[in-house]
Amino acid sequence: METGKFITLEGIDGAGKSTQLEFVVAWLQGKGMPVVVTREPGGTQLGEQLRSILLDNSTVMHPETEALLMFASRREHLDKVIAPALEQGKYVVSDRFTDASFAYQGGGRGVNWEKIGILESWVQGDLQPDLTLFFDIPVALGQQRVHAIKTRDRFEQEQLDFHQCVREAYVKRAQQFPHRIHVVDACQSVEAVREAVERLLERVRWNPPE
Ligand code: TYD
Repeated sequence: METGKFITLEGIDGAGKSTQLEFVVAWLQGKGMPVVVTREPGGTQLGEQLRSILLDNSTVMHPETEALLMFASRREHLDKVIAPALEQGKYVVSDRFTDASFAYQGGGRGVNWEKIGILESWVQGDLQPDLTLFFDIPVALGQQRVHAIKTRDRFEQEQLDFHQCVREAYVKRAQQFPHRIHVVDACQSVEAVREAVERLLERVRWNPPE
């Protein structure tokens, strides 16, 4: 059996990624694909515990500790959820993955890019998503949307310049890996973004279900 495909969704907070994630999942299911939906940090019991710590506004930690905890969560996630699902020919859709560590811990917190690269190869070897959708939006607009929705978590309550650095790091990653990471203009209407996402999904060669 062929292995499944791994799709990740990325973007600064407020880019509208969660709405589009529902669309990606529905699109795949509509094609009869077996889909596993998951998220980072999180996706496993331990990962969700780490997520609570990482997102809690009262948590104080060194930026490298934050990077290490993100990759600790990822190690579990790969072992318990992502790799087994791909081996079973399933389609894994993850709300964020390693590009977020480069963007938030690297760009936002200033953790050394090479150190993150070392964690990346340590934790995931050669495994990379087959397709990454990066929902790009100016920081001010993203912040407005976050503000409208809910109380802010530890990352969302950071200042504008933090989110600006996060966005710039995402753009840098997208330039480094143009075949994998596709930039979607998230300023458009939900419907226009959805159409752009659909065009990208159609370009991937999907393995038909058994
Ligand atoms: P997010 O995906 O925005 O979830 P929600 O939509 O429920 O708010 O929250 C996860 C936060 O974790 C987000 O602000 C980005 C951050 N994050 C990192 O800083 N590094 C990482 O490696 C990952 C996966 C996420």
